[in-house]
Amino acid sequence: MPLSLPPAARVGALLNEVDTPALLLDLAAFERNVARMQAAVSGAGLALRPHAKAHKTPAIALAQIAAGAVGVCCQKVSEALPFIAAGVKNIHISNEVGNATKATLLAEAARHAQMSVCADNARQIEWLAAATREAGTKLDVFVEIDIGQKRCGVAGSAEVMRLLDDLAPHGQLRFAGLQAYQGRVQHLRGHQERFEAARRASDRAAVVVAELSKAGVHCETVTGSGTGSVEFDLGSGVYTEIQAGSYVGMDVDYARNEYAGALRFEHALFLACRVMSQGDGTRAVVDAGLKSLAVDTGLPTVWGREADYTIISDEHGTVIPRSGPVPGLDELLLLVPGHCDPTFNLHNELVVFRDDRVEAIWPIAARGLSR
Ligand SMILES: Cc1ncc(COP(=O)(O)O)c(C=O)c1O
Repeated sequence: MPLSLPPAARVGALLNEVDTPALLLDLAAFERNVARMQAAVSGAGLALRPHAKAHKTPAIALAQIAAGAVGVCCQKVSEALPFIAAGVKNIHISNEVGNATKATLLAEAARHAQMSVCADNARQIEWLAAATREAGTKLDVFVEIDIGQKRCGVAGSAEVMRLLDDLAPHGQLRFAGLQAYQGRVQHLRGHQERFEAARRASDRAAVVVAELSKAGVHCETVTGSGTGSVEFDLGSGVYTEIQAGSYVGMDVDYARNEYAGALRFEHALFLACRVMSQGDGTRAVVDAGLKSLAVDTGLPTVWGREADYTIISDEHGTVIPRSGPVPGLDELLLLVPGHCDPTFNLHNELVVFRDDRVEAIWPIAARGLSR
């Protein structure tokens, strides 16, 4: 028999029996996060289209849709494929497609699901038009406007109008509205400064919508927003659809935001690791390092312990207790990842637990799909 790796966990096993490192989802906290976001967005009369780049997990997307989401966002066309395979019927690529190859894949995907995409350049529209003509499919196109991030997006309504002229000859490409996303606002720590920055961003979008309306162009959907700005964007009067993603699992970085309002989310995502050495007895060296945790926004925190994760290397992390004894060999520690999106992207499966028991193993099927 060929040698094979046993699964990290068995359904029904105790959490304490999970082999590590393993990415965990606390089902009860996850369900509360999903319900809380859906209630807030629906309560404001808006649509929720959560960003699936945050979790790359079809089972999570299906749970979000079952709770009321209209579909999901993906950031890349390849990322959408596992979600389509799992039965997600409505996917927005919240990004531009930068060549004919990707436009061809997107046009093919549109045979299986209602697909939409962003554009901020006439050449993208040419690629989309040619690919959909060839495939015999249809796409919804959102013109992306830059509301301060200085990433993708055109500057204002005059540029939007020019792109509408480029879209007009192609009946298979329908203008669906605007995408307006300001990522830099999301992680401003202070509640008031985040509010003011989110309002400046949504006001820029509102100006474009008003100018288009004056010119007789109706924006059916204005899509954008994220976990850090959603509470302000709900009342902005301009967004009709919310794209927040990280709220499902949360991470250390988002937890550092100050949330004065009622809309806050719980840590549902953890990285289980075990103590594999105590070195000279003063530290716990755990078996999860850079290959299990994304640290671009900072190191993980140790959940429920007076201890700090202090040094990270490829396959090791050093945990120092602030008080009490050094965690013992083989002891299970739960870490809260610094940044959820790229941490999901490091793992093949999600060990889903409730009350200390493993309830399911969910494939992180879009992991690694960034083309
Ligand atoms: C276009 C777009 N929409 C929505 C989001 C979701 O943001 P978050 O995960 O911070 O909620 C992102 C995140 O980077 C994004 O790039």
